Amino acid sequence: MFAVHLMAFYFSKLKEDQIKKVDRFLYHMRLSDDTLLDIMRRFQAEMEKGLAKDTNPTAAVKMLPTFVRAIPDGSEKGEFLSLDLGGSKFRVLKVQVAEEGKRHVQMESQFYPTPSEVIRGNGTELFEYVADCLADFMKTKDLMHKKLPLGLTFSFPCRQTKLEEGVLISWTKKFKARGVQDTDVVSHLTRAIRRHKDMDVDILALVNDTVGTMMTCAYDDPHCEVGVIVGTGTNACYMEDMSNIDLVEGDEGRMCINTEWGAFGDDGALEDVRTEFDRELDLGSLNPGKQLFEKMISGLYLGELVRLILLKMAKAGLLFGGEKSSALHTKGKIETRHVAAMEKYKEGLANTREILVDLGLEPSEADCIAVQHVCTIVSFRSANLCAAALAAILTRLQENKKVERLRTTVGVDGTLYKIHPQYPKRLHKVVRKLVPSCDVRFLLSESGSTKGAAMVTAVASRVQAQRKQIDKVLALFRLTREQLVDVQAKMRAELEYGLKKKSHALATVRMLPTYVCGLPDGTEKGKFLALDLGGTNFRVLLVKIRSGRRSVRMYNKIFAIPLGIMQGTGEELFDHIVQCIADFLDYMGLKGAPLPLGFTFSFPCRQMSIDKGALIGWTKGFKATDCEGEDVVDMLREAIKRRNEFDLDIVALVNDTVGTMMTCGYEDPNCEIGLIAGTGSNLCYMEDMRNIEMVEADEGKMCINTEWGGFGDNGCIEDIRTRYDTEVDEGSLNPGKQRYEKMTSGMYLGEIVRQILIDLTKQGLLFRGQISERLRTRGIFETKFLSQIESDRLALLQVRRILQELGLDSTCEDSIVVKEVCGAVSRRAAQLCGAGLAAVVEKRREDQGLEHLKITVGVDGTLYKLHPHFSRILQETVKELAPRCDVTFMLSEDGSGKGAALITAVAKRIQQARKEN
Ligand code: BG6
Ligand code: BG6
Ligand code: GLC
Ligand code: GLC
Repeated sequence: MFAVHLMAFYFSKLKEDQIKKVDRFLYHMRLSDDTLLDIMRRFQAEMEKGLAKDTNPTAAVKMLPTFVRAIPDGSEKGEFLSLDLGGSKFRVLKVQVAEEGKRHVQMESQFYPTPSEVIRGNGTELFEYVADCLADFMKTKDLMHKKLPLGLTFSFPCRQTKLEEGVLISWTKKFKARGVQDTDVVSHLTRAIRRHKDMDVDILALVNDTVGTMMTCAYDDPHCEVGVIVGTGTNACYMEDMSNIDLVEGDEGRMCINTEWGAFGDDGALEDVRTEFDRELDLGSLNPGKQLFEKMISGLYLGELVRLILLKMAKAGLLFGGEKSSALHTKGKIETRHVAAMEKYKEGLANTREILVDLGLEPSEADCIAVQHVCTIVSFRSANLCAAALAAILTRLQENKKVERLRTTVGVDGTLYKIHPQYPKRLHKVVRKLVPSCDVRFLLSESGSTKGAAMVTAVASRVQAQRKQIDKVLALFRLTREQLVDVQAKMRAELEYGLKKKSHALATVRMLPTYVCGLPDGTEKGKFLALDLGGTNFRVLLVKIRSGRRSVRMYNKIFAIPLGIMQGTGEELFDHIVQCIADFLDYMGLKGAPLPLGFTFSFPCRQMSIDKGALIGWTKGFKATDCEGEDVVDMLREAIKRRNEFDLDIVALVNDTVGTMMTCGYEDPNCEIGLIAGTGSNLCYMEDMRNIEMVEADEGKMCINTEWGGFGDNGCIEDIRTRYDTEVDEGSLNPGKQRYEKMTSGMYLGEIVRQILIDLTKQGLLFRGQISERLRTRGIFETKFLSQIESDRLALLQVRRILQELGLDSTCEDSIVVKEVCGAVSRRAAQLCGAGLAAVVEKRREDQGLEHLKITVGVDGTLYKLHPHFSRILQETVKELAPRCDVTFMLSEDGSGKGAALITAVAKRIQQARKEN
C-alpha cells in the first residue's frame, strides 16, 4: 500500500518536473488569453484590409469572394460528379441530391492516390492525371454515356470572378505543380477532360474545401454560415454581407468569403508570436515565407514542429540523455497522427514510448512525459490560434447582424480536428471564452466537402438552365449576315417598287416626292419662322439666315403637346399649335410681322407641291381625328384664321428627314441623305428625276421621303419578327403598320424590351417571377433610359438604381439580364437600320454607274444621339453591307428647323421669281 503511494507520489513529482521543464522551454508557445484576444483583434483588422478595394492588393489575408451567394435551401436536386482535390485524400464522387422530393443525398466515391511526382510535377500532367481518375471512376460506375455537371473542390487559394473559374494564387501545403499558378484551374481541367472523347462533363463550380464544408453542414443545419478546415492545411470561410465586399459589384444579400487565413502573418503581423521552431519549419517548407499562420496550426506541420522541438531539447541535454537518433534528424518523421496518438487520454504515454522507440530513441519515463507535454503545447497552441481567428469571424458576423447574441453554426472538417483526441474540445472552449456573446454550435462535416460542392453545383446548374432559357430569347434578336443581306435586298426591292408608277399606290415604302429639288447653295437669306412637330419635342423657331457667310442664328422654344391633344381632334391639335406660335411671337416680340414659315411635320404626307401635303396616316404617338387625307398646311392656315390674331405665310411643308438633310447639306454639299433614328425611323435621299415616275420631268433630282418605317407592312420581313414585335405592334396606335419602324426606333425599342422582360418574368427568370404594376405600364422604357442602362460607363449598381427609379425592384442578376436584353434589342435595331441604309447607298451607287460612291448622310434623332452603341453598330453594318460606298455620317446639331427654314428661303425665292415673271 505504501509502495503504491510512493510510486504515485514519485510519478506525479516526475510529471510535475517534466511539465515544468517543458513549460519553461516552450514558454513562448503558451499563449495567454490576452495574447489570444490581441491576435483576434489583429485578425479582425486583417479581414477589413482584405475586403477593402484599396488595401486588398497588399493584404496578407486575401478574403476571396467565392460567388456562392446562399446556403442550400433544400430545393437543390440532380445528379452530379464531384472531385475533391487538395486535402489529405483525393476523391472522385457521384452525388445524387434530393430524390423524389426528399432532402436526401446519396454519394458513391472512390479514393485515388496523389503521388508526389504528380502533385509536384508538371501542371498539365497533374490535371491529366485528375481527368484520368475521373474517367476511370465514370467507367467503373457506368457513367460514360451521361452528361453530368461537375463540382470541383479545390483546396487552394483561387481568385474567382465567377463560380466556374478560379485563378490559382499560389500552391500551398504539399502541392507545387508547375505552370498552374496565375492560371485558371477550371480551364486546365476542362482541357484535360476534353482529351477523353467519350466523356461529357461540364465543370460548373469551383469551390474551396472550406466552402464545401460549410455548404455540407448547412444542408443539415441552416444556421451554418462558417466553414473551418483544420486538416493538412487550415482555413475558414463565412457568409459576408455583399455591401462589405468591395471586390464584387452589388450590395444585396451575402456572399461566402474564403478568408485564406493560413496566410495571416505573411506580412509580418505575427512575428512576435512566432518562435524559432516556426522559423526553422518555414525555411524547410515548400513555400518559405508563406502560410505562416497555417504552419503554426495545421496537420501538415504539427508533427514537424514537435520533431524540431524534440531535437533542440535533446541537443540541449533536456531529453533522451542528450542522445539523438538519425530518425529524429529526418524531416517529416513525426506526423500529426503521431502527435494525436501521443496525446491519447489513456494510451498516450505508451503510444509515446512506442513512437519514440520507432524513431530509434531510448526514452525514459521522464522523456515520455516530457514529449507528451511538448505535443500538448504544440497542439494546444494550434487550437488557440485557430480559436482566435474564428472568434474574429464570429465577432464580425455578430457585428454585421447587429445582434446582442449570435446564434450560429460552424461546420468543421479536417484530419487534425477529427483524429486528435482533445482538439475539438479545446477549440470549442477557447472560442466560447473569446466570444462569450455567441452561442456556437460546431458541426462536424461527416461527408466531406463534396456534398456541399454538389449543392453549389446544383444551384449553378439551375442558373445555367435559366441562362439557356434567357439565351434562347436573346437569340431571336441575333441576325446573321445572311439575314441582314436579305433585309438589304428586300428594302432595295421596295424602294424600286415605290418609285414605279404602276406599283406606287400599293407600295409599303411609299417613296414620297417632296418637291425639294436641290440643296442650299449659300445664297439663302432672310428671317423665317419654323415649326418642328412630330419628334420628341415640339418647337417653334425663328431662324435668321445671312447669305454669303453661311451663318444661321436660331431662337427656339419647346412646347409640350399634351397626350389628350395628340390623340384628340385635328382642330384641337392645330389650335394648340397656333396657340404655341402666338406665345412664341409674343415672347419674341414679333406679332404683326407676317413671316414666311417652314413647317416640319414628321409624318407621311402626299405632297402636290412644296406647300401642300395630305397626311397619309398618323404614325408614332399621334392619332388626332379628322386629319388623315387632309392637307395639313390648310389645316394650319385655318387654325390661324380661326384665331384671327396674326397672319403667317406658310411656304413649305417639310418632313423631318428632309429638314435634317438640308440642315447638314448647308455645311456639306455632299449630304444627299437625311436619316432619322429617333422616336420614329425614316430616311430621305436625293433621287434622279428620271427614276421618279410619279412626277413628270426627267431633269435633275428631287428629294424622296422614303417613309421606310412602313417596310415590312406587306409581310416581307415576318421571318425576322419575333413574338415580342407582334405584341408591341398589337398594343400600338397603328397595329399592322410601320413594322420596320417598330423594330428600329426609340418609341418602340423600350416596348420590345418591356415585352421580353414580362415574358422572362413569367418564366420565373427575372424579378423573382413577380410582374409588377410598373412593368405592365406601357412606355416606361424611354430611349433615354435604354441609353443609360446600356452605357458602358455605368456600374451595375447604377443600372439597378435606374431600374429602381423606373419602379422595378431588381437584384443585381436581374440588372445584368435587363442590360443584356436592352443590348440585344438595340443592336438588332441598329443593324436593321444599317441594312436599310446600305440598300439606299448601293442603289445610288449603281444608278450613277459608279465603282465607288462617296456620300454624306445627315442624321438626327435621340436614339442615334443618346444611345451609346447604336450609331457605331449602324455604321459598321453599312460598311459591311455596302463596302463600295464611302459613307460619312454627319450629326445634325441644329435640328430640322434650320433645314426647313432653308427650304422656305429657296421656295420663297422661287415664289418671288414666279410672281415677278
Ligand atoms: C475532407 C474534405 O473531408 O477534408 C476535403 O472533403 C478537405 O475537401 C479535407 O480538403 C481537409 O482535411 P485534410 O485533413 O484531408 O486536409
Ligand atoms: C430633332 C428634329 O432634332 O430630331 C426633329 O429637329 C426630328 O425634326 C427629331 O423629328 C427626331 O428625333 P426624335 O428622337 O426627337 O424623334
Ligand atoms: C490551405 C489552402 C486553403 C485550404 C486549406 C485547407 O490553407 O490554401 O485553400 O482551404 O489549406 O485545406
Ligand atoms: C415616322 C414618320 C416619318 C418621320 C419619322 C421620324 O416614321 O412617319 O415621317 O420622318 O417618324 O420622325
